[in-house]
Amino acid sequence: MHFNIVTLFPEYFSGPLTCGLIGKARETGLLSFSFHNPRDAAEDKRRTVDGPPYGGGPGMVMLPGPLCKTLRGLGFVPRDDAGPGPLLLFKAGGTPFGQARAAALAGEATRSGHARTLTLICGRYEGIDARVEELFPAEAVSVGDFVLNGGETAALCLIEAVSRLLPGFMGDERSGEEESFAPGPGGGLPEYPQYTRPEVFEGLAVPKILLSGDHAGIALWRRQASLLAALHVRPELAAAAALSPDDRAWLQSVPRPAVGRNLYCALVHFPVLDREDNPGTASLTNLDIHDIARSSCSYGLGGFYALTPLEDQRALLRDILRYWTAGPGARTNPDRARALALVREGRDIACAAADLERSTGTAPLLIGTSARTGRCGLPEMSFAEIAGRLQTRPVLLLFGTGHGLAPHALEMCAAVAPPLRAFGAYNHLSVRAAAAVTFDRILHDWG
Ligand SMILES: C[S@@+](CC[C@H](N)C(=O)[O-])C[C@H]1O[C@@H](n2cnc3c(N)ncnc32)[C@H](O)[C@@H]1O
Repeated sequence: MHFNIVTLFPEYFSGPLTCGLIGKARETGLLSFSFHNPRDAAEDKRRTVDGPPYGGGPGMVMLPGPLCKTLRGLGFVPRDDAGPGPLLLFKAGGTPFGQARAAALAGEATRSGHARTLTLICGRYEGIDARVEELFPAEAVSVGDFVLNGGETAALCLIEAVSRLLPGFMGDERSGEEESFAPGPGGGLPEYPQYTRPEVFEGLAVPKILLSGDHAGIALWRRQASLLAALHVRPELAAAAALSPDDRAWLQSVPRPAVGRNLYCALVHFPVLDREDNPGTASLTNLDIHDIARSSCSYGLGGFYALTPLEDQRALLRDILRYWTAGPGARTNPDRARALALVREGRDIACAAADLERSTGTAPLLIGTSARTGRCGLPEMSFAEIAGRLQTRPVLLLFGTGHGLAPHALEMCAAVAPPLRAFGAYNHLSVRAAAAVTFDRILHDWG
């Protein structure tokens, strides 16, 4: 495979591309590199490659002229797919680069059977004039949600990731297949922990199964260790992985961190807004109680408060709960009984907060919810931050019935969760749907 590297700093690559496996692959001819400096294509005496950004702002932007001339010199044609092979451009805000894309680039090279060329454009300064991408359709890739000084480091990441997957690059071809994120049988999971000599190091022994010679047992241990690593550190990988029925059964048996138990919700019937935005009291509905209890139970919440100051409404709630948790409903539908057992009756938000403080020993953090942004003047707390707070204290999420929580209710909160579908033209979820989506945004499938 040949890499054309378009860079203002070819010298950057002199160390990394000469040592280790890359150095060997160059010697055997498996890999080759050429460097193309846009400065050599600059038209003025001072060999200028950058200019100030139109619209103002700090820093400089790479000029399109020298870069486009360099790409033409490599055989790329403006507004055309023609060229020596894939063209990739490094950009912090580009598509995240991952193992699957690395495997695809290496696979295409292997399948085509002849030397494949990848052209990599490394940006510098504040980035590259956007018209370069318009003229030469390049794949803009990012190596992570952080900002580097230039695309050279990103290029090194891509070169190593792709090269490792070329046949003949590594001593043992299986190394690439068994590594973290490998698509296929590994299912895109992080790798299991590895151990080597000595068997006991500073009092820590290698897991016995790895010394047993029981290959099936070792494979199972490794698979489960990978799943566990995903669950604890990169749960989104576990959710997206190719899981077998055995994997699923095992995952269900694993004790979870269960931060969800620190999450509580309250369905507030007073003070809420009516259609005219006047504060008032809404009526309790059977449907909301059932559905929010079921979502609370599915997501492992600690409890669900149904709050209304009206005695007759609380009596109605008690009737519903009695029927489903101790009466005929519980006998015919024990699953429903389990969900409705989470429901706690209360007069108002202060009662719920006091009850939670009594039962957990810690005052809960009150977080409001609203379909509208910036309505209440409260700081917005991201779903990820709410999840973080659950590690150390109970959080009580308030959901308003009617047309939402009245200002008086929101004033009791420390922050408000981000509105759901804030950018949509239509944003009228039922409170029970909003509660389920909010639980999922905070806890996902694993919290
Ligand atoms: C200082 S950065 C420019 C950052 C740019 N102003 C921004 O805010 O996204 C200069 C160059 O580094 C490269 N770069 C920086 N971070 C990157 C990342 N996470 N992934 C890929 N390339 C990156 C890009 O080529 C970029 O043009």
